[in-house]
Amino acid sequence: MNRLRILRPDDWHLHLRDGAALQAVVGFTAQRFGRAIVMPNLKPPITTTALARAYRQRILSALPAGSRFEPLLTLYLTNSTTPDEIDRARACGFIHGVKLYPAGATTHSDAGVSDLERVYGVLAHMEKVGMRLLIHGESTGPDIDVFDRESHFIDTVLEPLLVRFPRLPIVLEHLSTARGVEFIRGARPGIAATITPQHLLHNRNAIFSGGIRPHFYCLPILKREPDREALLEAATSANPRFFLGTDSAPHEKNAKENSCGCAGMFTAHAAIELYAEAFASVGRLDRLEAFASHFGADFYGLPRNTDHITLLNEPCMVPAGYLFGDAELIPYRAGETVGWRLESA
Ligand code: NCD
Ligand code: ZN
Repeated sequence: MNRLRILRPDDWHLHLRDGAALQAVVGFTAQRFGRAIVMPNLKPPITTTALARAYRQRILSALPAGSRFEPLLTLYLTNSTTPDEIDRARACGFIHGVKLYPAGATTHSDAGVSDLERVYGVLAHMEKVGMRLLIHGESTGPDIDVFDRESHFIDTVLEPLLVRFPRLPIVLEHLSTARGVEFIRGARPGIAATITPQHLLHNRNAIFSGGIRPHFYCLPILKREPDREALLEAATSANPRFFLGTDSAPHEKNAKENSCGCAGMFTAHAAIELYAEAFASVGRLDRLEAFASHFGADFYGLPRNTDHITLLNEPCMVPAGYLFGDAELIPYRAGETVGWRLESA
């Protein structure tokens, strides 16, 4: 297949940042996707509907002229989020989920939840009004091996959470393990997971091939080859519980190439093209559209997009870097090619 026409996809997990960084990256997503669930881990975090409303306006203002891209906002859950705030979020019409970051789990997560019991009241209210909970599913304790954090979280936190809140809709974000795939497959209705392109295309060897490669460091960290294979199998299985969420997470070059480098890979410049590569690698391009353009919208109770994009099976060169405000952004595959190209409109 040299040409693939699909319904316009959506990105159900995206970091857009703010200010000049936002300005630098939002166009890449807007070119490909109809909508994106925008993460609230700014500094300070987006913890209220008022902050989300202002952030949404900044995103809209940063869009290229004529863009019809729609940002879908999320609230950052803290120990002090109130049921009233959930009601305001529900009523505003542009907030589609509340994000749980275990404190200390990832970039800008220090305001996250330190003890789940403290938010049980808010979760009960979210369950009552049908507000989705989006979870960064990693345990954070220093005694837990970095490669086991997702599995540990599923076993010790998520399983009991699903029992306590049997009707709360939940997305387990950036699934990274075979254990996670197995869990999502067998979970009660109302549970889904997003999958990133990097977790479909790479195992953890990528972080260490010939030296340490900070641009392959993201959270959850890349896992073993059997995990990658299980994720690819899940993404291409036409199971509506698995859908597209890039977790494209830009950081300036100096923050990545650093003695204590930040977690996050920037993939928005070629996001849908990279998923096409992954699906083509197992001869399953016929299932890309459902994963990218149907299942996420269905889970969020939103209409599917109605226009289309076309992908061409032609190598496309990725620049060595992009401008990122005053800094530089090193994209995934910098200086190399991606096997697919978005046909210009
Ligand atoms: C994300 C970021 O940089 O905001 N980093 C990452 O490695 N994925 C945060 C996150 O989603 O964990
Ligand atoms: Zn993320």
